[in-house]
Amino acid sequence: MAKRPIEPFRIKVTEPISLPSREERDKCINEAGYNVFRIKAKDIFVDLLTDSGTGAMSQKQWAGIMIGDESYAGGRNWFHFERTIKDIFQKNFVLPCHQGRVAENIFFSTVLRKGDYVPNNTHFDTTRANTMHKGGIAVDLPCAELDDEKSDFPFKGNFDTDGLRALIEKVGPDSIPVVIITLTNNSAGGLPVSMANIAEVRQICDQYGLLLFFDAARFAENAYFIKKYEAGFENSTIREIAQRMGAYADGVMMSAKKDGLANMGGFLAVNDEKLAGRLKELLILIEGFPTYGGLNGRDLEAIAIGLEEALEEDYLAYRTGQIRYFGEILQEVGCPIITPTGGHAIFIDAGRFLPHIEPVRFPGQSLTVELYRRGGIRGVEIGSLMFGGVDPNTGDVLSPKREMVRLAVPRRMYTCSHLEYVADIMAEVVRDKDKLCGYEIIHEPTFLRHFTCTMKELAGKPAGVVSER
Ligand SMILES: Cc1ncc(COP(=O)(O)O)c(C=O)c1O
Repeated sequence: MAKRPIEPFRIKVTEPISLPSREERDKCINEAGYNVFRIKAKDIFVDLLTDSGTGAMSQKQWAGIMIGDESYAGGRNWFHFERTIKDIFQKNFVLPCHQGRVAENIFFSTVLRKGDYVPNNTHFDTTRANTMHKGGIAVDLPCAELDDEKSDFPFKGNFDTDGLRALIEKVGPDSIPVVIITLTNNSAGGLPVSMANIAEVRQICDQYGLLLFFDAARFAENAYFIKKYEAGFENSTIREIAQRMGAYADGVMMSAKKDGLANMGGFLAVNDEKLAGRLKELLILIEGFPTYGGLNGRDLEAIAIGLEEALEEDYLAYRTGQIRYFGEILQEVGCPIITPTGGHAIFIDAGRFLPHIEPVRFPGQSLTVELYRRGGIRGVEIGSLMFGGVDPNTGDVLSPKREMVRLAVPRRMYTCSHLEYVADIMAEVVRDKDKLCGYEIIHEPTFLRHFTCTMKELAGKPAGVVSER
């Protein structure tokens, strides 16, 4: 029996949720074109679409909201925000922006030329899309252990450093404006990157004179895994580990909607003054004055406090413990997941779960739709729908290695009972999984198609027996 972690907080404010009837759920998913992004949140019971901006803020953060200084320039919350980020990431210049993808947009617009290569342990979808949008070529270089289903190597989020060297030798360092490490490696199971791996990537970047940036959305979860699993860090604090990681990078892009424990926000932080100046010009053009960057003063305060709270070890033990527990109870009902579990989500191996549905028919989407139909649960496909299709720059047909469904757990929001409910629904899906069918896209945009595309169900009956719920 899996062991439940205990929440290191008690609940002071509640938000009601309710499960629509099966009939209503069928209508909702139908009207949404079988795309769960298009369903109204009120029609969702347990929302595991993303851990981004969906978490609960603490009493300290809400208190911080009340001391928001909404001055256009030089507000007091900005100085708290700047000081906190400089300290945690060991950087000289901080540029706030309203979310992570804007940091990516500003950064890539500044450093990328058409045809450039951007290696990453694995690009997140917005990072990939922003790279491609500027005419860049996004190259994923995850470590070999990631594909070894039997391996319980804790740092499966690592960069393939041999692959990085080979790419640099092949295309030349001049066509690589930056190397990015995503911490944790979201699209590869939310798994962490070890300090040794970060150090090795740094050394390669030094050797070839390349910039190293972090996509640091889940830096605190990454630091916790380093403390737990990497020799030599057991007695370090999470802050010390985060600072050590930060010191390896020339710059950081971060969505503060994850380990910033905030509902909105992001930033860029860099060491180089010239680069900071170039980034700032674009920041002013598209986000706002550099002491607010598209955010309210109160948001800056909530993020500054949230970044500190994310470093608390009991919080991180509970956070990663809840994900581990969720993975264990899903496995107990026969659901195949990617192991070991990472820091923010469970990744279900939908290809293995539904082998009768070909990747081009989106097995992950089939499971996503079924979880909504049966239990009002919203997850997200991470497979051929999200990362497949045709590369708008090269015309290449893209096919990801794995068909997955991600169940991301918002921070400090759902208790273990909610997760047990999901496992109960999953047990029903496991029982009837052979009845699930594939999907076909009817309409899709050029970039990030999974957000807005519509689909139709293919052949046969809509999957599954009608649930009693
Ligand atoms: C690793 C990673 N990078 C970047 C982003 C984009 O951040 P935002 O949603 O704040 O634009 C996300 C969002 O989920 C992410 O997980």
